[in-house]
Amino acid sequence: MNDRLKLLVVLGSVREGRMAEPVGRWVCEQAAGRDGIDCELVDLKEWDLPFYPFADAPAKGNYTDPLQRRWAEKVASADGYVLIAPEYNHGAPAVLKNALDFVYAEWNRKPVTFVGYGGNGGARSIEGLTLVVRELQMAALEASVHIMGVWGKVRDGRFTGDDKDLRWISHAFDELEWWGRALKVARG
Ligand SMILES: Cc1cc2nc3c(=O)[nH]c(=O)nc-3n(C[C@H](O)[C@H](O)[C@H](O)COP(=O)(O)O)c2cc1C
Repeated sequence: MNDRLKLLVVLGSVREGRMAEPVGRWVCEQAAGRDGIDCELVDLKEWDLPFYPFADAPAKGNYTDPLQRRWAEKVASADGYVLIAPEYNHGAPAVLKNALDFVYAEWNRKPVTFVGYGGNGGARSIEGLTLVVRELQMAALEASVHIMGVWGKVRDGRFTGDDKDLRWISHAFDELEWWGRALKVARG
């Protein structure tokens, strides 16, 4: 079995001037410094998924729409996920929730962690997402990253994490690798 882990880093904001993009790039840069992880940035702005419009619930697996099928293939291609999770009105941005809602089985039995930011390091966004991913049969890691003062850490479009951010992302990757490998074997 290929021992490398494929991670998708999903940008949870499509807003002009979003912090999600530099933060997501930083996450992939940190992953590049580790052996054994292949990281791909997933930009929901490029995917432009409509609000869930299909008759059947995704858990039925009856994906008739070409875009839904392509999204299912993208999600299925990964062994784990990092959701870049800003906080909008004490929850996750609708675009991120919609991307999670869009397919079902492809998320199942895979680990997910969160990189949050906002007033409280995105704590409420991450807590809300944890409930959502439980229903998607994912393993939500306790190890997540709460970035404080994100706005002061982005300069010329680049995010630079402080020591705490670096420690937390490193721990999150450790856990993602452990769960990712274990669940990959278990899924067969
Ligand atoms: C619609 C909206 C709602 C927001 N609500 C909150 C909030 O409830 N709590 C918070 O800490 N920050 C809130 N913010 C501030 C965002 O966390 C901040 O703008 C962050 O940079 C958004 O992520 P983004 O730049 O990647 O879009 C809100 C921002 C927007 C646009």
